[in-house]
Amino acid sequence: MRFRSAAILLLVSAAASGAGADDPNYTQDGKLKPPADYREWIFLSSSLDMSYRKLGGLMGHSMFDNVFVDPSSYREFVKTGTWPEKTRLVMEVRAATEKGSINEHGRFQSGDSMGLEVHIKDSARFAGGWAFFAFNGSEPAVQIPSGADCYSCHQQHGAVNTTFVQFYPTLLKIATEKKTLSPNYHP
Ligand code: HEC
Repeated sequence: MRFRSAAILLLVSAAASGAGADDPNYTQDGKLKPPADYREWIFLSSSLDMSYRKLGGLMGHSMFDNVFVDPSSYREFVKTGTWPEKTRLVMEVRAATEKGSINEHGRFQSGDSMGLEVHIKDSARFAGGWAFFAFNGSEPAVQIPSGADCYSCHQQHGAVNTTFVQFYPTLLKIATEKKTLSPNYHP
């Protein structure tokens, strides 16, 4: 009997969260797992030292942001100009280095990833549709609270559906053609 009620509870909680028991993204207590294979996803763009937010302890270092999206959501964006449910966008941060090998000018990316953040669309789970997560190594992470400035800046300034498509050149062209740019967005 005890066995059976535990099984029913599990089924109920999986249904309530809108995810199957084998959902690869979340742990049973609702944390998001860092995507292990994002380096095999679609590359959207890199930016160097953009100064739209405070990076606390990392300030003073020169850094690249690399943005990737899972392949099936990318293909949907190419068709529709916007993101489907379960879209996962990753931002990876790496050091921008001047001195190394034959380099004389400019900066290249080096070393291990210094930060990994995910922006995920999952309306069954998150009020507002989207949620942010910041990871520490391979540990699953709790959602960044919805009052954080991540949400307000992305909402107010992201060109398509709270994402910064204005900085992903191939996608900006598609969104412009499909007329899916946010009314808030001014080039
Ligand atoms: C003041 C504005 C601002 C704030 C605050 C902000 N971001 Fe962003 N975010 C951007 C911009 C601009 C880009 C795109 C360009 C880049 O940085 O490479 C971006 C891109 C991203 C991306 C890539 C996917 C996408 O949505 O375009 C992720 C992931 C991300 N930010 C996570 C976060 C997290 C997590 C926080 C809060 C801890 C945060 N951001 C706070 C402006 C902001």
